[in-house]
Amino acid sequence: MKLFDVYPLYDVEPVKAEDCTVWDKNGKEYLDLYGGHAVISIGHGHPHYVHKLKNQLDAIGFYSNAVQNSLQKELADKLGKLSSCDEYELFLCSSGAEANENALKLASFHNGKHRVIAFSNGFHGRTSAAVAATDNKAIIAPINAQQKVTILPLGDLNAVETELKKDDVCAIIIEPIQGVGGLDEATTEFFKGLEVLCKNSNTCLILDEVQSGFGRSGKFFGFQYHNIQPDIISMAKGMGNGFPIGGILVAPHIKSKYGLLGTTFGGNHLACAACIAVLDVLEKESLIQKAQLTGDYFVEKAAKIPGVKQIKGRGLMLGLEFDYEVGALRKQLIYEKQMFTGGAKNKNLLRILPPLTIGTTQIDAFIDAVTELVTQKV
Ligand SMILES: Cc1ncc(COP(=O)(O)O)c(C=O)c1O
Repeated sequence: MKLFDVYPLYDVEPVKAEDCTVWDKNGKEYLDLYGGHAVISIGHGHPHYVHKLKNQLDAIGFYSNAVQNSLQKELADKLGKLSSCDEYELFLCSSGAEANENALKLASFHNGKHRVIAFSNGFHGRTSAAVAATDNKAIIAPINAQQKVTILPLGDLNAVETELKKDDVCAIIIEPIQGVGGLDEATTEFFKGLEVLCKNSNTCLILDEVQSGFGRSGKFFGFQYHNIQPDIISMAKGMGNGFPIGGILVAPHIKSKYGLLGTTFGGNHLACAACIAVLDVLEKESLIQKAQLTGDYFVEKAAKIPGVKQIKGRGLMLGLEFDYEVGALRKQLIYEKQMFTGGAKNKNLLRILPPLTIGTTQIDAFIDAVTELVTQKV
């Protein structure tokens, strides 16, 4: 059987990984500044993570949501404490798109309205309402286009206010720092304005923390830079360090009811064990503070790379913007320097999403490699 061919692949096959290092099938070593698309939070194969998952597999790997599972409660308690979002309630699922799908659906159940406001260059996943709220026509199929979504310019509070007056908007969904779009972010004034407009119009404010959450931005959640309280927070990527798990945090004024949301795989034993291990390590190794400090170090060093126009993002969710497309540079970084980096919708942007454990020596090595390659180019 052939694979359905939807991914343009680099000619490299990782078969082994440890912390920020990946080895291909020929034994060649790579530095991982991409984290498998912001997924690897505590480092590949962290011993505590491996131990927890192996033990869990020996005990019980899966049972459905029809029975008690105290691991879900342990996860919720640890997550509440570490994120300072203790008052929220947790619903677990298995991916970022599923988290946003549930967030949007819950908002609509809550206030009975049906239209969604999202923002230019935003990305929220590839499923029904999540993809409709994504600003990329190429991935919206006719079946998705039936959803009522209005995409507004990021930062235009007046446009939001005008739309909310029509009283049909169930939710506003926004990333605190845009990932796929290219690391743009709105101002604190805009986020605070959204919070007030949502409160006054019975609209749910959904913060999509799928990529920025779990410490990547240098705070547990990216919205915490703006001192706001979203109604729903969606999360996934860094949550399981590679194990598929997602979830939403729901503010207490949104009430649960049996059957309102559901999933077969969400919150299973192995997924919970993975996420608990991630939370343990984030706390024990102070990785959120580390992400902030290492990110600051990266920004300071990267500012000296010739041709870098702008450095975007926060913590270890960063982008280097050049005034030319970086596709060729990414290829050279992989094939000549053995370094994984990410791309974005903004073709001039090189994305840096390493495990939060990355050290300054590894960053120095990356800066030297890029400097050498872009200097050759000039
Ligand atoms: C901000 C954001 N939301 C949602 C998603 C979708 O997540 P998933 O691919 O797990 O469905 C992504 C994935 O890149 C993302 O960056």
